[in-house]
Amino acid sequence: MKIAIASDHGGFDQKAPLKEYMESLGHEVVDMGPGTADRCDYPDYADKVARYVAAGKADRGVLICGTGIGMALTADKVPGIRAAVIQTPQFAELFREHNNGNVLCISGRFSTLDLNKEIVHIFLTQEWAGGRHAIRVEKVMREDDPSFQGVGEDFGA
Ligand code: RB5
Repeated sequence: MKIAIASDHGGFDQKAPLKEYMESLGHEVVDMGPGTADRCDYPDYADKVARYVAAGKADRGVLICGTGIGMALTADKVPGIRAAVIQTPQFAELFREHNNGNVLCISGRFSTLDLNKEIVHIFLTQEWAGGRHAIRVEKVMREDDPSFQGVGEDFGA
């Protein structure tokens, strides 16, 4: 697969080793920055990767900041993106299997490199289950449609 990766200063130290790890698994990895560990703004890098993935220029994205939270908040606002902060292998599995996640957001400060390698490995290998989860993911994605008026206040009530 082709993977886009980026970080801010909080995730910078893990960016190169994770890129190398994904390459060792046979993936093509595009480093979208930053080029130094200087303080920078995570939304700029989340935006770059999310738009690249949403445009179909990469199959998946990996974003690393201090917590992963700011990256996920930003990436999820880009239409077509399903991003989440993942801190455990089990969540990585379910993020792919149930949510068909396409942008993985991880913490450079609270998760070790070894744990993040394990999470990345699952993110790149676990298949999307589809089936009963497909309708739910379709419902997630309808929020991208500006013409969607919402489900109202009394659905299923
Ligand atoms: C930067 O200090 C920090 O806020 C950032 O890396 C990230 O944790 C944001 O969610």
